[in-house]
Amino acid sequence: FVAVLDFGSQYNQLITRRIREMQVYSELLPHTTTAETLRSMGVKGIVFSGGPKSAYEADAPTVDPEIFELGIPILGICYGMQLIAHRYQAKVQRASVREYGKAEIEVVQASGIFQELPARQQVWMSHSDLVEAPPAGFAVDAQTDHAPVAAMSNREKQMYCVQFHPEVNHSEYGAQMIRNFLYDVCGCTGNWKMSSYAEEAIAAIREKVGDRKVLCALSGGVDSSVAAVLVHRAIGENLTCMFVDHGLLRKDEADLVMQTFAEGFHMNVVKIDASERFLNRLEGVADPERKRKIIGEEFIRVFEEEAKTLGQFDFLAQGTLYTDIIESGTATAATIKSHHNVGGLPEEFDFELLEPLNSLFKDEVRALGEELGITREIVWRQPFPGPGLAIRIIGEVTKEKLEILREADYVLRDEIKKSNLEKEIWQYFTVLPGLRSVGVMGDERTYSYTIGIRAVTSKDGMTADWARIPYDVLERISNRIVNEVPDVNRIVYDITSKPPATIEWE
Ligand code: XMP
Repeated sequence: FVAVLDFGSQYNQLITRRIREMQVYSELLPHTTTAETLRSMGVKGIVFSGGPKSAYEADAPTVDPEIFELGIPILGICYGMQLIAHRYQAKVQRASVREYGKAEIEVVQASGIFQELPARQQVWMSHSDLVEAPPAGFAVDAQTDHAPVAAMSNREKQMYCVQFHPEVNHSEYGAQMIRNFLYDVCGCTGNWKMSSYAEEAIAAIREKVGDRKVLCALSGGVDSSVAAVLVHRAIGENLTCMFVDHGLLRKDEADLVMQTFAEGFHMNVVKIDASERFLNRLEGVADPERKRKIIGEEFIRVFEEEAKTLGQFDFLAQGTLYTDIIESGTATAATIKSHHNVGGLPEEFDFELLEPLNSLFKDEVRALGEELGITREIVWRQPFPGPGLAIRIIGEVTKEKLEILREADYVLRDEIKKSNLEKEIWQYFTVLPGLRSVGVMGDERTYSYTIGIRAVTSKDGMTADWARIPYDVLERISNRIVNEVPDVNRIVYDITSKPPATIEWE
């Protein structure tokens, strides 16, 4: 077990994730965690994370001074390095040139965490303070043009410090540095697995919930599915899942959710068919933001009304991920933007929140889902927006348009699946722009709808490129849609990236 003490950097959970990737269990703990606690937890190494403060400021967050005396190896990253430097009376000051982004370091001691790594390599810097000269007992391990001490260590005390962020992908050999710290310095063996995470999470849920009742809003998306199955493993019948079908789902989606969870996992899933309600409220509405707002509000209304009929609940389980939380600000991290998943709860409810995935990233959630035996079909689903097909129909949503879009989307998904392209493409779907054009089918002139195909590759949905689906696959998709979906006579392929376009058309 390696503890990461949290000083509020946006990257700090990424450190725990990198460590877990190396089969060593790791958790983010408050920086106020005492030396005694760390000792009793049997930690093999401690990481001080980065953070937005300056170590020399009066209100700078610090650690229990006893931690420096534990004899447990410490890795200080960015603010963590400055904190150690400050503790040993080195001068930490505002840098004359702030470094943000890529920088090249020159390794001067190719041992310790730099063992077997090249002398020159790229790292990711993000700091405005620097250490001018190492404190007594410390030696410089690496430098850059602007930072005389880009890395330093005190081998006797087993303290290693880096000014840059080895946890981010832009640091070329960052993962190896973390590996060297874990395996060579801390003596970790790397025998931790996702299955141990599942076991521990289940035990923790059991302990927290006891024999009280939990309600979960199950959407069939990856996050809520994994959260629901995990909670179900822990408390069984005391979990009730509510699945709201707003009528804006893809073809067969509601059945898949019921089959997977109610039948497959024998979970207590209540399906609410609210499609008429949503369609009524959407009548005549063309503006995309109004559609979103109406759907969001209606969802909460349905959820509140139905929850009351299901009984008393003490907890609300949600599949909130770490990435959802960090953007909304934590105790030590600065707020960047509020995330709608976190802030959008019904206010009247007196629920305690249960968020068992809130320290995980998307791909870790997928790994956990597979560990829990959830089908690949669910675990590897593409992201699907809350407002569903309503934002893939440009302008007013009608039953007729929903039907056309649903069928076209089904063909696209079917062909992508048959071509084994599912994992390569981040999202793929069809759009109904509501545009009609002239065509000829048989000997007849037609005047029918156009369907747009949107397929993108992306890592996180923030930026995206249009997917290069092979022409023969596109040809099959196009032929099948015009043949199988009534009232469609033309297919176009969206070849814009994000930016300047967005992934969805609305
Ligand atoms: P855009 O279209 O902004 O989409 O490039 C980025 C990602 O967000 C999804 N998306 C939404 N998800 N509610 C959601 O839950 C929404 O209103 C919404 N709008 C877009 C989109 O599918 C893509 O994954």
